[in-house]
Amino acid sequence: MSRILRVSIISGLIFSFLSTSANANGADTQQGLDLFALGKVVYTTGAESCQTCHGADGLGTSRSNVSLRDPQSWKAFQLESALRGSPRAIKSETVVKAVIALGAKGWNEKNFGELRSHLETSVQEQDSSGKSLPFDEDMIGLDGPNKKALTMRVIRMMRKAGMPRATPSEINDILAAAAFTYINEAFVEPAE
Ligand code: HEC
Repeated sequence: MSRILRVSIISGLIFSFLSTSANANGADTQQGLDLFALGKVVYTTGAESCQTCHGADGLGTSRSNVSLRDPQSWKAFQLESALRGSPRAIKSETVVKAVIALGAKGWNEKNFGELRSHLETSVQEQDSSGKSLPFDEDMIGLDGPNKKALTMRVIRMMRKAGMPRATPSEINDILAAAAFTYINEAFVEPAE
């Protein structure tokens, strides 16, 4: 990889996606994707979209009782606090985006084995709110039937914005960051 692809989030947060050579012009030269609008498409469009399990209001359905309006109830926060101070300390935002990007199955396979030894047994099995780790594999995130159409959409958006071509995993990260932005702005912030 040979570049830093930076996407500026409307809320002012800036995420940078992996690469080798730093962007000499600073943070904002390659912005141009509206992550909220893209996130809304990700959340609402197609079969098995986020909305089919999480509901148009983020409050959940029969397929998921997670409230997307209450991030502190998410497992990612449970993980962040369980691992704080350990060699595997991790930020909940990173976890949430990775679970969205990979789906729970992909995330569990990639990360859970390694984290397991750093987690208290009680956290692995069940915490006081009754949630257990690893993630419930019904959470498919982006690993569903819409992935290809969403990927094509990002490629078109980036081309239009004059951005360099991204790798499949960068595109997946952009889609996850977009969904995360949408959840934050549509569900979390208005509730605060
Ligand atoms: C097929 C149903 C289904 C779909 C589709 C789905 N999810 Fe989920 N989601 C779940 C379930 C079930 C959980 C609870 C996972 C757990 O607690 O282990 C969850 C959990 C979450 C969480 C909380 C993570 C945490 O740390 O506890 C977020 C955020 C989330 N989903 C976002 C999304 C987004 C964004 C999409 C679309 C890209 C999506 N979900 C698609 C079922 C789904």
